[in-house]
Amino acid sequence: MALDKAQIEQELQQALSQISAAVNLESLKQVKIEYVGDKSPLAKANQLLASLEPAQRAEFGKLIGGARATVNEAFEAKSNELSLQRDLIALQEEKVDVTLPARTALKGGLHPLTSLINEISDLFIGIGYNIAEGPELESEWLNFDALNIPADHPARSMQDTFFVEPLEAKLVLRTHTSPVQIRTMLNQKPPIYVICPGKTYRADELDATHTPVFHQVEGLVIDTNITMADLNGTLDYFAKSIFGDDVKTRLRPSFFPFTEPSAEVDIFFNGRWIEWGGCGMVNQKVLIACGVDIEKYSGFAFGMGLERTLMVKYGITDMHDIVEGDVRFTQRFGLGIK
Ligand code: DAH
Repeated sequence: MALDKAQIEQELQQALSQISAAVNLESLKQVKIEYVGDKSPLAKANQLLASLEPAQRAEFGKLIGGARATVNEAFEAKSNELSLQRDLIALQEEKVDVTLPARTALKGGLHPLTSLINEISDLFIGIGYNIAEGPELESEWLNFDALNIPADHPARSMQDTFFVEPLEAKLVLRTHTSPVQIRTMLNQKPPIYVICPGKTYRADELDATHTPVFHQVEGLVIDTNITMADLNGTLDYFAKSIFGDDVKTRLRPSFFPFTEPSAEVDIFFNGRWIEWGGCGMVNQKVLIACGVDIEKYSGFAFGMGLERTLMVKYGITDMHDIVEGDVRFTQRFGLGIK
């Protein structure tokens, strides 16, 4: 191929236009191979210089050298421009907004019933009580007979109590925490100061105010010189610890087979009297059945529903909220794991 000025100019323009058309570093790399490197038309033209007359060689050498320098410069400039562009795009795409709030993992929460049981346990342990426990599957004798509940008592009917098969085994799902009183008296010598929080069962349908599985806390004190006044003071302390110092308590005469005298304890909370639980002096028949010396000892007992306590304390109107286990309900109480 002969050298021709117009041809060189054309190759130069072609190379420049290809360089300027490159949209990214990859396409520029391709342009480099074809128009800038050793195989480019201008490099090939350069190789032809050797075959020229010295005078022509100088002239074309200058022309081709100038064209190649122009191409190299254009290539360098374009390469810098595209590198910068690539970095800007990367910066944009990988941008992290450090001012965004961190995504926090949802914390678990204690169910308010669990927190209430912990709170009650703490406040009684604080005045010297122990926590007593008994099984949820209980003998009919401890659940009823030992508590002086007669065989024909309506609570013992199938409608109220879950009897567990085989029926000859005489086992029930305990209908209250009171059998733990009996277990404690059979196993410990007075003085006895215990509370027993726990799960209890009754054959009720789940509705706004009932649940077949619920919770109670039982209290039992057996010691010398225990009177109704001790019961009164203890319930007052209990109520004030749970509902606040402004709460008032009162005892209303009532009847339970295992206490004599018996009373309902009411609290005055949020402007009205509300029934809270049952209580009384432990019936001497029960003390005797448990081998307690009634010449020396007397005692009191009380029992409250914990769902009811929660409902009153927090103004919960639907039992479903307590039993359904929806974390949004639990979170409302702001009760984190301590
Ligand atoms: N056990 C009773 C119930 O479930 C509650 C109760 C009443 C417990 C009086 C007591 C008590 O200890 O003295 O309805």
